[in-house]
Amino acid sequence: MTRGQHLLLGVVVVVLLAVSVIAGGFAQQQAEDYDEEYERPYRVCAENTVDFGTYNGYRRYDGFCLRCHGPDGAGSSYAPSLVESLKTLRRDDFNEVVVNGRMNLQAGQQSVMPSFGHVEDVMLYLDDIYSYLKARSDGKLGRGRPKRCPS
Ligand code: HEC
Repeated sequence: MTRGQHLLLGVVVVVLLAVSVIAGGFAQQQAEDYDEEYERPYRVCAENTVDFGTYNGYRRYDGFCLRCHGPDGAGSSYAPSLVESLKTLRRDDFNEVVVNGRMNLQAGQQSVMPSFGHVEDVMLYLDDIYSYLKARSDGKLGRGRPKRCPS
Protein backbone atom coordinates (compact mmCIF):
# COMPACT_ATOMS: atom_id res chain seq x y z
CA MET A 1 0.00 0.00 0.00
CA THR A 2 1.22 3.47 -0.77
CA ARG A 3 1.33 6.16 1.86
CA GLY A 4 -1.67 7.83 0.18
CA GLN A 5 -3.74 4.64 0.35
CA HIS A 6 -2.85 4.25 4.03
CA LEU A 7 -4.02 7.75 4.70
CA LEU A 8 -7.30 7.17 2.83
CA LEU A 9 -7.93 3.95 4.77
CA GLY A 10 -7.30 5.82 8.00
CA VAL A 11 -9.82 8.50 7.07
CA VAL A 12 -12.45 5.89 6.13
CA VAL A 13 -11.99 4.11 9.47
CA VAL A 14 -12.30 7.36 11.42
CA VAL A 15 -15.49 8.35 9.53
CA LEU A 16 -17.05 4.93 10.12
CA LEU A 17 -16.27 5.14 13.83
CA ALA A 18 -17.76 8.61 14.09
CA VAL A 19 -20.94 7.51 12.30
CA SER A 20 -21.41 4.51 14.59
CA VAL A 21 -20.87 6.64 17.71
CA ILE A 22 -23.43 9.21 16.52
CA ALA A 23 -25.96 6.51 15.54
CA GLY A 24 -25.47 4.78 18.90
CA GLY A 25 -26.05 8.04 20.74
CA PHE A 26 -29.18 8.66 18.73
CA ALA A 27 -30.61 5.21 19.56
CA GLN A 28 -29.89 5.83 23.23
CA GLN A 29 -31.59 9.23 23.06
CA GLN A 30 -34.71 7.64 21.58
CA ALA A 31 -34.80 5.04 24.34
CA GLU A 32 -34.56 7.81 26.93
CA ASP A 33 -37.50 9.63 25.35
CA TYR A 34 -39.66 6.96 26.98
CA ASP A 35 -40.08 8.49 30.42
CA GLU A 36 -41.34 5.83 32.80
CA GLU A 37 -42.66 8.32 35.37
CA TYR A 38 -44.49 10.29 32.70
CA GLU A 39 -46.08 7.23 31.12
CA ARG A 40 -46.98 5.64 34.49
CA PRO A 41 -48.02 8.47 36.81
CA TYR A 42 -50.20 6.34 39.11
CA ARG A 43 -49.22 5.10 42.56
CA VAL A 44 -50.62 1.93 44.03
CA CYS A 45 -50.21 1.61 47.82
CA ALA A 46 -52.28 -1.53 48.46
CA GLU A 47 -54.58 -3.79 46.48
CA ASN A 48 -57.00 -1.62 44.51
CA THR A 49 -55.83 1.38 46.51
CA VAL A 50 -54.40 4.32 44.58
CA ASP A 51 -53.28 7.94 44.92
CA PHE A 52 -55.94 10.63 44.91
CA GLY A 53 -55.38 11.66 41.27
CA THR A 54 -55.86 8.13 39.98
CA TYR A 55 -58.94 7.72 42.17
CA ASN A 56 -60.29 11.00 40.85
CA GLY A 57 -59.60 9.75 37.32
CA TYR A 58 -61.91 6.84 37.98
CA ARG A 59 -64.72 9.23 38.93
CA ARG A 60 -64.12 11.48 35.91
CA TYR A 61 -63.95 8.49 33.61
CA ASP A 62 -67.34 7.34 34.91
CA GLY A 63 -68.75 10.78 34.33
CA PHE A 64 -67.51 11.37 30.78
CA CYS A 65 -66.21 8.24 29.11
CA LEU A 66 -68.07 5.24 30.53
CA ARG A 67 -71.18 5.68 28.44
CA CYS A 68 -69.20 4.82 25.30
CA HIS A 69 -66.07 3.01 26.51
CA GLY A 70 -67.90 0.81 29.02
CA PRO A 71 -67.43 0.31 32.76
CA ASP A 72 -63.79 0.24 33.99
CA GLY A 73 -62.41 1.10 30.55
CA ALA A 74 -63.29 -2.37 29.33
CA GLY A 75 -64.88 -1.28 26.04
CA SER A 76 -68.34 -1.64 24.53
CA SER A 77 -69.85 -2.55 21.20
CA TYR A 78 -69.54 1.14 20.23
CA ALA A 79 -66.09 2.19 21.44
CA PRO A 80 -62.80 0.34 22.01
CA SER A 81 -61.46 -0.88 25.34
CA LEU A 82 -59.09 1.80 26.62
CA VAL A 83 -57.51 -0.81 28.89
CA GLU A 84 -56.38 -2.48 25.66
CA SER A 85 -55.59 0.77 23.82
CA LEU A 86 -53.18 1.95 26.50
CA LYS A 87 -51.04 -1.14 26.13
CA THR A 88 -49.66 0.51 23.01
CA LEU A 89 -50.95 4.08 22.95
CA ARG A 90 -48.49 6.53 24.54
CA ARG A 91 -49.63 9.26 26.89
CA ASP A 92 -49.18 12.11 24.40
CA ASP A 93 -51.19 10.24 21.77
CA PHE A 94 -53.93 9.52 24.30
CA ASN A 95 -54.11 13.23 25.13
CA GLU A 96 -54.21 14.15 21.47
CA VAL A 97 -57.22 11.92 20.75
CA VAL A 98 -59.17 13.17 23.79
CA VAL A 99 -58.48 16.82 22.99
CA ASN A 100 -59.20 16.65 19.26
CA GLY A 101 -61.49 13.65 18.95
CA ARG A 102 -61.48 11.24 16.06
CA MET A 103 -63.87 9.99 13.45
CA ASN A 104 -63.76 6.60 11.90
CA LEU A 105 -65.68 6.16 8.70
CA GLN A 106 -65.61 2.56 7.60
CA ALA A 107 -67.83 0.92 5.02
CA GLY A 108 -71.32 1.59 6.32
CA GLN A 109 -70.11 2.03 9.88
CA GLN A 110 -69.54 5.31 11.62
CA SER A 111 -68.07 5.75 15.07
CA VAL A 112 -67.14 9.07 16.55
CA MET A 113 -64.83 9.89 19.41
CA PRO A 114 -65.99 13.38 20.41
CA SER A 115 -63.45 16.13 21.00
CA PHE A 116 -63.19 17.16 24.65
CA GLY A 117 -60.83 20.09 24.12
CA HIS A 118 -63.54 22.52 25.22
CA VAL A 119 -64.88 20.45 28.14
CA GLU A 120 -63.29 21.97 31.21
CA ASP A 121 -64.04 19.09 33.58
CA VAL A 122 -62.24 16.70 31.25
CA MET A 123 -59.29 18.95 30.34
CA LEU A 124 -58.58 19.85 33.99
CA TYR A 125 -58.48 16.18 34.95
CA LEU A 126 -57.04 14.63 31.80
CA ASP A 127 -53.90 13.55 33.68
CA ASP A 128 -56.05 11.82 36.31
CA ILE A 129 -58.15 10.03 33.70
CA TYR A 130 -55.00 8.87 31.93
CA SER A 131 -53.46 7.74 35.20
CA TYR A 132 -56.53 5.69 36.11
CA LEU A 133 -56.73 4.03 32.69
CA LYS A 134 -52.99 3.31 32.60
CA ALA A 135 -53.14 1.63 36.02
CA ARG A 136 -56.04 -0.47 34.72
CA SER A 137 -54.15 -1.24 31.51
CA ASP A 138 -51.00 -2.28 33.40
CA GLY A 139 -53.08 -4.70 35.45
CA LYS A 140 -52.26 -2.77 38.64
CA LEU A 141 -55.88 -1.90 39.37
CA GLY A 142 -58.91 -4.18 39.23
CA ARG A 143 -62.44 -3.37 38.17
CA GLY A 144 -64.87 -1.28 40.21
CA ARG A 145 -64.36 1.73 42.48
CA PRO A 146 -60.79 1.95 43.77
CA LYS A 147 -59.89 2.93 47.33
CA ARG A 148 -57.72 5.93 48.17
CA CYS A 149 -54.27 5.74 49.72
CA PRO A 150 -54.08 7.42 53.13
CA SER A 151 -52.63 10.85 52.49
C1 HEC B 1 -69.82 9.37 22.36
C2 HEC B 1 -69.02 8.21 22.65
C3 HEC B 1 -67.63 8.44 23.26
C4 HEC B 1 -67.31 9.12 24.44
C5 HEC B 1 -68.26 9.83 25.38
C6 HEC B 1 -65.89 8.95 24.60
N1 HEC B 1 -65.36 8.25 23.56
FE1 HEC B 1 -63.39 7.81 23.26
N2 HEC B 1 -63.84 6.90 21.50
C7 HEC B 1 -65.11 6.70 21.00
C8 HEC B 1 -65.03 5.96 19.77
C9 HEC B 1 -66.19 5.52 18.91
C10 HEC B 1 -63.66 5.73 19.54
C11 HEC B 1 -63.03 5.01 18.34
C12 HEC B 1 -62.82 6.05 17.26
C13 HEC B 1 -62.16 5.45 16.05
O1 HEC B 1 -62.55 4.36 15.66
O2 HEC B 1 -61.25 6.08 15.52
C14 HEC B 1 -62.95 6.34 20.64
C15 HEC B 1 -61.57 6.32 20.76
C16 HEC B 1 -60.89 6.79 21.86
C17 HEC B 1 -59.46 6.72 22.02
C18 HEC B 1 -58.46 6.12 21.03
C19 HEC B 1 -58.35 4.65 21.28
C20 HEC B 1 -57.36 3.96 20.38
O3 HEC B 1 -57.20 2.74 20.54
O4 HEC B 1 -56.76 4.60 19.52
C21 HEC B 1 -59.16 7.26 23.24
C22 HEC B 1 -57.79 7.41 23.86
C23 HEC B 1 -60.41 7.67 23.83
N3 HEC B 1 -61.43 7.37 22.96
C24 HEC B 1 -60.52 8.24 25.09
C25 HEC B 1 -61.73 8.69 25.63
C26 HEC B 1 -61.82 9.33 26.93
C27 HEC B 1 -60.67 9.53 27.91
C28 HEC B 1 -63.12 9.70 27.10
C29 HEC B 1 -63.74 10.45 28.24
C30 HEC B 1 -63.15 11.72 28.54
C31 HEC B 1 -63.83 9.27 25.89
N4 HEC B 1 -62.96 8.66 25.04
C32 HEC B 1 -65.18 9.46 25.68
C33 HEC B 1 -66.29 7.14 21.57
C34 HEC B 1 -66.40 7.90 22.72
